[in-house]
Parts: sequence; C-alpha cells; structure tokens
Amino acid sequence: MEKIVSLCKRRGFIAPSSEIYGGFESCYDYGFLGALLKNNIKQSWWKTMTQYRDDIVGIDASILMSPKVWQASGHLTAGFADSLVECKKCHHRFRKDYLKEDKCPDCGGQLTEEKKFNLMMKTFVGSIENEAAVTYLRGETCQGIYMNYQFMKNTMRLKIPFGIAQIGKAFRNEITTRYFIFKTREFEQMEMQYFIQPDAKEKKKWFDYWQKERMKWYLDLGIEKENLRFREHRKDELAHYAKRAIDVEYKFPWGWDEIEGIHDRGDWDLSNHSKYSGQDLSYFDEQTKKKFIPHIIETSAGTDRSVLSFLIDAYQEIKEGRTKTTEAKKENEVVLRLDRKLAPIKAAVLPLVKNKKDLVKKSKEVYDLLKLRWMSQYDEVGSIGRRYRRQDEIGTPYTITVDFDSLKNNDVTVRDRDTMKQERVKIKGLVDYLRERLEGR
Ligand code: GAP
Repeated sequence: MEKIVSLCKRRGFIAPSSEIYGGFESCYDYGFLGALLKNNIKQSWWKTMTQYRDDIVGIDASILMSPKVWQASGHLTAGFADSLVECKKCHHRFRKDYLKEDKCPDCGGQLTEEKKFNLMMKTFVGSIENEAAVTYLRGETCQGIYMNYQFMKNTMRLKIPFGIAQIGKAFRNEITTRYFIFKTREFEQMEMQYFIQPDAKEKKKWFDYWQKERMKWYLDLGIEKENLRFREHRKDELAHYAKRAIDVEYKFPWGWDEIEGIHDRGDWDLSNHSKYSGQDLSYFDEQTKKKFIPHIIETSAGTDRSVLSFLIDAYQEIKEGRTKTTEAKKENEVVLRLDRKLAPIKAAVLPLVKNKKDLVKKSKEVYDLLKLRWMSQYDEVGSIGRRYRRQDEIGTPYTITVDFDSLKNNDVTVRDRDTMKQERVKIKGLVDYLRERLEGR
C-alpha cells in the first residue's frame, strides 16, 4: 500500500485534500492522471451498463434531496448507523466492530459503552440554520434513482425487467476511515437498480445474472481472477433494506475486502416511498393486466475502491530494471500494467533528443496527430531510458520515439509497455496501428 500511495503522489494520481493545511479528514484529490483513470473506469461502467444494453437507462440526479427521502428509506434510523465507542482518556472514537480488544488502541484507556452513531451527513439548505432547513448529503446514490423511477419509466417507455444506472458522489459520516481511498467520508458510487417482477424465481434468475455480469466486468478489465471472490452476507450483517447480499471482494494488501455489493432490496424502497409520498409507484403489466410494486436487484460498486483495486492489481515491480540504460541498471522499475481502456495516457511521443530542432518539430507533428484521438503526452525531458520508465510507471501502453531515421523515412519506433517489443511504423499508418491495438477487441 505504501508503494501505491507513494506512486499516486509522485506521479500526480491522488494526493491528500487541502494539503497546504495539513490535509483534511481522509479526503483525497484526484490529480490529472488519477482523474483520467477514474473517468476511464466510469466510462467503461457506464457503457457496459447503458450503451451496450437496451434495458438500462442512465441518469444524473441531484445530490441534495428532500429529507423525506431519507426518512422513507430508513437511513435516519438505527438501520444506517454503526456502533461507536469513545476512549474516556484521549476521547478518540472507534467503530466497536473494528476493535480487537476492549481498550483504546491509541492510549490503552477505558472505553465508554457502545452507542449507535448515524452515518448520514447533515447539511442546511438556505440561510436559516434551523430544523426546517435540514437535509442530508446522499448516503447512497440509488435513492436518486428511486426518485426518478416513474419519470424514466414513463418517458423512456421502459418495460419490466429494466434498469436505471447512475454514477455519483455519496457521503457517510464514517466513524473510522482507513486504507487511503478505500474508506472515506466522501466517495463515489456506480449503482444500477434493476426492476423486476415480485417473483422468487425471477429474483433468483436476476440475482445470479447480475452477480456473474459484475464479476465479468472486473475480469474483462484485467483484474487477476485469483484476486477476486464473492462473499455472501450472513443474516445478521444485512443492511436494513436488503433481503440478500453478496459482495465482490478484492484481495487487498490487508486482506479480502468489499469493492461492490449485489443486493436483493425486495420492494423495500418503492413501497416505502409510495407510503411516505402518497404517490402510487406501482407498475402495471400490460400483458398480465396485473399491478405490482417491482422488486429490485441492485449492483452497487465503489468507484474509488475500483480505482484502488485496478492500481494495486496493475502494479508490478521489476527487480534491477529492464530498460537497458546506464542509470537504470541497478534501479527497480515499476510498470503499471493497466488495461488499455483504463490507462490514463494511451500514447507518449518522445523525441530521441531535445536539442535538435528537426526532431522536435517532427515529434510535435506526430503528437498533434495522436492527441486529437487519444489522451497523449509529449515528453522531451531526461534521457530516453528515464522517459520510457516514467511512462511505464503511469501505465502508458505505447511510447513512440522519433529519431534521426524518422526524418529520412517518415517512420517512428513504437514500444509496447508489456512486451517491450519495438516496431518501426510509418507515420501515415501510425493512427491505424494504434487504433487496432488500443480499440480493437
Ligand atoms: N446502495 C447500496 C449501498 O450503498 P454499500 O454496500 O453500503 O451499498 C456500496 O456500498 C459500495 O460503495 C461498497 O461496495 C463500496 O465499494 C462503496 N462504499 C461504501 N462506503 C464507502 C466508503 N466509506 N468509502 C469508499 N467507498 C465506499
């Protein structure tokens, strides 16, 4: 983990928020490469869920909603709360279920009795700080989906089974945050709610289906099979809305932990929102002429946890290097073997040397050609070996070197990050060459 955190900082992926003030409460900022990686993950999820399918639409709902939403969903009661204990001596607070012993892990002091601590983040809307203006930053993005269930069903002419997907920020006043971006108070979710018939067989069918689909998504994007597994929740750990839950877990450096949950939410949400709002949220089936409240199978992935697992899985250290340059001989080299779809920079253009005008001019022409199509980088700083290693470290699949022969022959050397194979490619065929490799499949 230390190596990942250090790489993220050093190479502009992720850093603590408000760092000039000493950071703030486990909040993190994504720098350029981190934002590109995160966006590529979101793009892939969004396309898989909406573009490649006919039964799911996507939305982008407001983060702030009526506080009634959270009353109806059960998030303001004990259901959405963790057990908190406080040290009587140093007053540090802990989640009871994270503690191994019955004393303060920081100072050894005596702990208070446990009490329930609600995780919703309160905020005030408007200029008057009173109860009437209180609402909450959303604790899960799917409540925005339920608020748009009728709107989408009617305007998009959706027929059961259908889904609504959304990517966005969620907030929880977690008692303890941990492991870098793994558990934070502000995070992003990629959630899809699949509305189905209230029938046990249908439920089993779609639960199994979504379990497989979600695992496939991680595998298709290159996560090693042995680093992923499912874990079914025991009855006593189920969230207040869930009838059944299976997590997708990743093998993190600290052990197996959750990156996504697949949940059978039954009719909990739509029934409660119908009751609290007085609106009829039932579905009328034209074929069977039956009216019912749809049941929901949910897939709920954490974007930040995806970023972290893709980074960890792609990280590889090569002892004593593989780039044959004098200064590289004894250094360990890092290669980030990210899937091409996820890599922040797809191609980097490197002039062999920077103080030759013709070379720089030709390199910039090549760069201009590529940057219109893919996120590319031009880099002329440092030795060619160092520049290769810099690109390997940020996961760039192709580095393109422009040398003196390029000026005569109008060709370049393309180096593959993973195989280290170098191929001479004509500049006029370069876009096709890269398109085949970056977008093929
Ligand atoms: N709508 C269902 C729901 O929110 P969840 O299991 O509480 O279910 C789903 O959360 C996913 O959201 C988790 O698998 C995780 O990836 C992410 N997540 C939840 N809490 C998080 C936190 N404090 N920090 C980062 N990610 C979090």
